[in-house]
Amino acid sequence: MTDCQGDGEGTMSPMELFEKLNAQGEKVRSLKSAKAEKAEIDAAVQLLLKLKVDYKQTTGQDYKAGCPPSENLIVSNNGPAADDCDGEDLVDPWNVSASSTKGVDYDKLIVRFGSSKIDTELLERIEKVSGQRAHHFLRRGIFFSHRDMHQILDAYEKHKSFYLYTGRGPSSEAMHVGHLIPFIFTKWLQDVFDIPLVVQMTDDEKYLWKDLTLEECHRFTVENAKDIIACGFDVNKTFIFSDLDYMGASPQFYRNVVKVQKHVTFNQVKGIFGFTDSDCIGKISFPAIQAAPSFSSSFPQIFGGKKDVPCLIPCAIDQDPYFRMTRDVAPRIGLLKPALLHSTFFPALQGAQTKMSASDPNSSIFLTDTPKQIKNKINKHAFSGGKDTVEEHRKYGGNTEVDVSFLYLTFFLEDDEKLEKIKEDYTSGALLTGELKKILIETLQPMIAQHQERRKQVTDEMVQQFMTPRPLNHKF
Ligand code: TRP
Repeated sequence: MTDCQGDGEGTMSPMELFEKLNAQGEKVRSLKSAKAEKAEIDAAVQLLLKLKVDYKQTTGQDYKAGCPPSENLIVSNNGPAADDCDGEDLVDPWNVSASSTKGVDYDKLIVRFGSSKIDTELLERIEKVSGQRAHHFLRRGIFFSHRDMHQILDAYEKHKSFYLYTGRGPSSEAMHVGHLIPFIFTKWLQDVFDIPLVVQMTDDEKYLWKDLTLEECHRFTVENAKDIIACGFDVNKTFIFSDLDYMGASPQFYRNVVKVQKHVTFNQVKGIFGFTDSDCIGKISFPAIQAAPSFSSSFPQIFGGKKDVPCLIPCAIDQDPYFRMTRDVAPRIGLLKPALLHSTFFPALQGAQTKMSASDPNSSIFLTDTPKQIKNKINKHAFSGGKDTVEEHRKYGGNTEVDVSFLYLTFFLEDDEKLEKIKEDYTSGALLTGELKKILIETLQPMIAQHQERRKQVTDEMVQQFMTPRPLNHKF
């Protein structure tokens, strides 16, 4: 596939063209609203049209404001049409809402974001290279999309290792089960590939975006770090850091932040993240801070100053805009593009149209919930794909595609056969909604109780250890 962003000498990259088009569009609008001379407006419109033609020639796609070019563009006249931008699914780091009760159309998202599907071939390769059966999140399409995973595996096969990077925005003390998904999966990757992991706690991000004090955000970092540690990470292979602490303590990290800041314009982040002129400048420059951990040189204590250790980022797909930007700048600052594995969202109790949100207690099952709370929330709020009456349900069966209890079981019930049987029985009507909910309740109650138990064992000293910059064990 032709990867044509960013590094063309003389010609403009799709991103640069996109940025120019955004600026020109804005110019036309402001000329019009200022009631400028007709000739001046016409000239600006002509330039806008010309840029649109250039854009189409370069990318094979029509320009759409707010819909940046996908990364892996195919330069041909019959390249993928970017007709998905007007679909109603909204997915960015701050919002997720789908038009259908089945949730976000993830296949469309792959086309729109220009990532690749995790197909059977990739699954088999992961199994072959790791020597392990693929995690059920992979087998069930919960991690469904990737960028450059084949390159990571190629290198690993040649005994060139890599590292993992993931993160968490500590916006409150309360983490819910959905927050665990990337961490459970990252822990599996760390175990099967035996590699170091860095975890970024973006307390700075939450300070900038939310109505919280710096001290609150920092405290949430420490509290959330305990939940992350409780997932079982190996302290000898894991570095968890607070941006508020590490940014000032690591000259190499900050140097990478500044490099990224120099190579991304305001127009680009406007296009990617939808920032406006009234967003504070902290937000506008923040993406550079989320980009920096993608580069091994940001962690000299771990990688001894090596610039070329490849990075793999497991994350929910809503974080992709940050890493599209990162991948766009990386070659321009002489660094490697990170690879990615993307997950779907963890649906809210009310249905797959939106994701679980910690700010709506009824939409979430928290890691601090008691067995009774878990039971009540599921019974009361979990959206059912069953029929209204028992008679109808027995006759027509339920719909597992929209049933939240079933969806949660795909995340947490590891036994494939059991899951398949539940699906069959629910679809046929043999299994009732109440019975399905009971299975979910009995799956989640012990899982969360065990998490609480492990979290209790995490002492302040252990947190301190995980969060101290230090060398990690690895074999490269
Ligand atoms: N921005 C993310 C959030 O709000 C946190 C984050 C930082 C992250 N770096 C990451 C998430 C890398 C996934 C991968 O939750």
